[in-house]
Amino acid sequence: MKTNREEHKERQERQERQERQERKGRIDGKHILTRASTAPFSTWRPWRLILFLFLAPTPPAPAFPWSKDMANQPSIKPQEARVQAPPGAIPRTPRPPVLPPGPAGQARELAGNSLHNPQAADPASLARGERMYLRHCAACHGAGGRGDGLVGKKFQPRPADLTQAYVRGQADGRLYYTISRGSVVMPGYDLSLSGRDRWHLINYLKQGLGRE
Ligand code: HEC
Repeated sequence: MKTNREEHKERQERQERQERQERKGRIDGKHILTRASTAPFSTWRPWRLILFLFLAPTPPAPAFPWSKDMANQPSIKPQEARVQAPPGAIPRTPRPPVLPPGPAGQARELAGNSLHNPQAADPASLARGERMYLRHCAACHGAGGRGDGLVGKKFQPRPADLTQAYVRGQADGRLYYTISRGSVVMPGYDLSLSGRDRWHLINYLKQGLGRE
């Protein structure tokens, strides 16, 4: 039979053991982990952050609707204007010829008589002309030049069939004027094509297009 004193001592010892064990568990991290599993944000869980970043809606970039900062910049947009050469720059290619002034019909005839193609229609010129044709003209006039390009089908009047004798028979200077200034509804290409490329194009129109 245990005495009261013994029983009290035993109880005290048991309590101490329990406390010691508890302290040990806390140092091991066990205690913390078991408690942390019920507390959602107390531990570092990288997958939670990744999930959050994926699911969080992207906030709109703050900008006023009238702010056109990105559009208003000192760059020149296609067909807007000619880029001015910096002072002192020396041209690597000859200047394009000056087109005759006056109403288009008249000036085109004048150009036909006064402008002469300085570029021989050699294979390199035809290859360059073809490249320029496919880039700038084929959308309307069609890859084969028949006036059946995807964009051209929407035009009224339809783009000219460039393989016709009416076009092929024109003086180079006249075609040069048409390409530079455009025609009735056709846009002009003097801002997109260098003078030399226009001559290459004319060589291709006359000797390459529809013949290969
Ligand atoms: C946006 C469509 C479009 C593009 C691109 C285009 N053209 Fe045209 N072109 C036309 C249309 C439409 C006509 C017929 C109506 C007119 O004369 O404007 C025409 C007519 C012509 C004519 C006949 C003009 C005449 O003497 O009556 C020539 C030559 C010509 N284009 C050459 C070209 C060349 C070369 C290119 C590429 C640098 C080109 N076109 C790019 C639409 C286009």
